[in-house]
Order: sequence, then structure tokens, then C-alpha cells
Amino acid sequence: MDNQVVTGAAPTASAFAAIKDAVGLDVTYRVATGRTMRRIYLDSTATTLRLKLVQEVLDRFQPHYSNTHSLLHFGALISTREYQWSHEMVLRFVNADAGGYFCFFIGSGATAGFNRVARTLRAKRPERDVVITTLMEHHSNDLPHRAHFPKVVHVPPSVSGNSLGGVDLGQLERALLENSGRVNYVALTGVSNVTGIVNPIHEAARLAHRHGALIVVDAAQMAAHLPIRTSLDIPQAASLDVVVFSGHKVYAPGSPGVVVARKELFSGVPPQEVGGGMVDTVWEDRYTESEQFPDREEAGTPNIPGAIGLAAALCALRGIGMDAIAAEEEALMRHALVRLAQVPDVIVYGETDTRICRRAGAIAFNLKEMDHALTAAILNDYFNIAVRNQCFCAHPYVRELVMLSLSESADMLDNEALEKLAELHRGMVRASFGIYTTSEDVDALAEALRDIGARRDFYATQYERLPDGNYVHRDFRFDSTRVFSVRKEVGRLLSGVRERSPER
Ligand code: ALA
Repeated sequence: MDNQVVTGAAPTASAFAAIKDAVGLDVTYRVATGRTMRRIYLDSTATTLRLKLVQEVLDRFQPHYSNTHSLLHFGALISTREYQWSHEMVLRFVNADAGGYFCFFIGSGATAGFNRVARTLRAKRPERDVVITTLMEHHSNDLPHRAHFPKVVHVPPSVSGNSLGGVDLGQLERALLENSGRVNYVALTGVSNVTGIVNPIHEAARLAHRHGALIVVDAAQMAAHLPIRTSLDIPQAASLDVVVFSGHKVYAPGSPGVVVARKELFSGVPPQEVGGGMVDTVWEDRYTESEQFPDREEAGTPNIPGAIGLAAALCALRGIGMDAIAAEEEALMRHALVRLAQVPDVIVYGETDTRICRRAGAIAFNLKEMDHALTAAILNDYFNIAVRNQCFCAHPYVRELVMLSLSESADMLDNEALEKLAELHRGMVRASFGIYTTSEDVDALAEALRDIGARRDFYATQYERLPDGNYVHRDFRFDSTRVFSVRKEVGRLLSGVRERSPER
């Protein structure tokens, strides 16, 4: 049953169309050929575009915007009510029972959430001093555990043939047994931010619970693509203890990171951040911490519009149904894998048979014998296709994927050739999708890669490699301030018809 798609009542076509409209889908830039083209945004795993629906809700909220710590005036009443409701919306979105779970907003991504979780669970269960995570993780679900625990074990992904799949559950169980009685929690990503590979989080939860460990799920990539079942409609043994994600990856950039947790895990542990809003009374020599959730975890004035924008996005996604969204995206992913497989010399990393290993939202690849940074530069400069390259804040995983793919060539190449290849492929190109990504966008990527592969000699002459590993076009320059500059915008708005800037 892990993350299986269950399709419910079909959402109406107009609701689907409305949610897919995002700010920036129709933006155009002039490319190296001199043409002005629509940008194709294939970098949603780094950050999603903002849904127009979210923007519209925020525009309507903005006139009422006030501090949630002010209690009585009309604007504060609206802001406080909607900010509180945003928490309720999060719990509904992740299918968590509101009696046993709470959520709080923190920082501007998932990182602050993981740091808070690591510190809190270390304090809550001091006798359990080991964390098990995997080699598939984003650094945000790895380094905080290393910083706060004396021992972190990294379980590798499973290997099938020459491909890596989801986390190896056998090795996870072995790590739990080897560290019996000491494992505080298993920290596992729901969906890899590199390959889009979906992990069996509920099976991992069962294993963790069987050994007295908790399960902490990184849902940063999962939240936009798959339903999250924290505790409702699943057996308790398979439920998730903590879920962390971030609004900037769920169509609401500018919104905070989110932690959903079982209340008891954060009870009886002093809040890690102190200040206004998390105390009941403060005297000169002492203070009493609030027992209320989420107040005790949200010191200071929160990112109120960010939380409200996120709640709008989650409410809309829930209205369409995450099962329906997942089913549609699954079809797009299959299409993308087929199209990329047809392009000569494309290596797609990780298991590509979606019957063996499900994927959501992202595909990492390289063109054989071509530097990832050059491929990404050409995709941008000539085709206006926005992708990310390098290691995606997941160095150990990228290293594992690259080494396995190179082992195929090891028998055929001498050491020098293999070293050269390893250097070129010390990173990848990633195409990642959102609810607004179309099969035409994917086709454009496949055609662009076909062209780059076929004319690689021409493209190589157009670029110079910089010492930092990036590539710069020999003739074409993009001046970002000609397209947008805060200073110029402010100058324009302040001066009305005058063209002069406010400062130099
Ligand atoms: N960590 C984000 C990514 O995967 C930014 O691209």
C-alpha cells in the first residue's frame, strides 16, 4: 500500500486548469540565437513557481496583514484566525490526527525544521544516541543529525543490476539490530530530490517502530507530488512520527518550513528557541513557558503571509486531491523516461523501471562524456530550459549514482579515460516537474538534448570553462538588471514619470 495511488472522485477539468496556472509560466527571455522565447521551467525541485491562486489569496489578505501577537483589532483578528487555520490546514493536508499531532512553522525551508527535530529528540530521548539515515538524503536530513548525535549510520539504497533504487530495507533492519536499544529515530526522505525515487516510508516506519525507534520523514520533495499519510487511515505501526517539509517547494515560495510531529515528542522538553510568543509570564528572574502547541515552538513574530500562502496552496491541492495529482504526474514521469531513453547518449541515474521503483517529480541525467555544467548552460542559453546541475545538496548520493554508472565502463576504459569521465560526471543535470509541467515541456527537453548531443562540437566552441567549473558563452551575455532590478523598479515607482533612480 506504500504511497499507492488511490484515485477518488475526478476533479473537474476547470479546477485542474485553475490550479496549474502559475506566476512565471509565460515569462520570456532572449537567448543566444537572438530569439526571444518562453522559458520552460524544469527546476521545480529546487523551488516551485507560485500558483496564481496563491498570489491572489495573498493579494486579498495583504490589506488586513497585522501581527498575530496583537489580539484585538480587526486586522489582528483576521491575521490570527487565518494563521491558526494554516496550522489546521497543514494537519489535514498530511492526514495527521489533530488530537495527537501538532505542527509549527520554522525558518525558510526544511533545514531549520530538521535542526529543531534533531535537538528536541536528542533531549527527549537522551539514552538513544544513534540516528539511522540513508545515503539518499539531502544534506538537510543528514548534517543536523550528525551535529546533534554522536553516531549517525547511513544505509545505502538497494541495487538492482546497475541501478540504484529506494532505500535497502534489509540493510535498514540490520542497522537497527546492530544498534539495538540505541536508535533514537530513522530519518528518511519520502522522495529523493535527485532522482525522484520514492521510498517505502511506511515499511521503514514499521521496522523502526518494531525496534523502538521513531521515524522522521523528509517530505520536502514528496509534499508537492504524493499524498502524505501521517497517521490517518493507516495502521499505527506504519504511522509517521515526524514529517518535515517546506512551503517553497509546494507552490508557495516565500512561505516557511513546516514540522508536523506527535505532540508527546515535544512535550516536557524545553523549547529550543525562546523569546516573545512562547511564554505565559516573564519576571525579572524567571519565566514560564507556554504549554500550548504550536506557540511554544514559535518564538517571535512568525512569517504570517508565508503561512497563509502555504495554506492556500495546500487547500487547493487537497481540493483537487493529491491522489489525482499523483496519478497525472506519474503519467508525465513515464513519458519523460521514455522520451529521454530515446535520446542517444543520455544516462538517466537510478532505476528507470517505474514498475520496480516509483519516481516523482525529478530525473537526474548526463549526456555521455559531456560536463553537466556545459549541458545545463546550453539548455539555458540556447533553449531557454531552466534546469539545475551539480550535486543538489546530496553529495554522497550523487557520488554513489555516478560511481555505479561508471562501473559499467570500467572494463572498457583505461584508468586515465575513466578518471576523465569521473571528473566530467562529478555532478548531474536535473529536470524536475511541477503540477504545471506539460508533456510538451518534456518533449522540448528531449529535443534539445538530442540537438546538443548531435552538435556537441559546435557547442563546445561557443563556451569557455571558468576555474569554478561553470561555463560562459564566448559572445552571449545575459544582463539580469536589464530584465529586473529592485533599484530600478523602486526608482520607477518613486519617480512616476521620472526615469531617475533614487540612489547611485
Ligand atoms: N535543495 C534544493 C534542490 O534540491 C534546492 O535543488
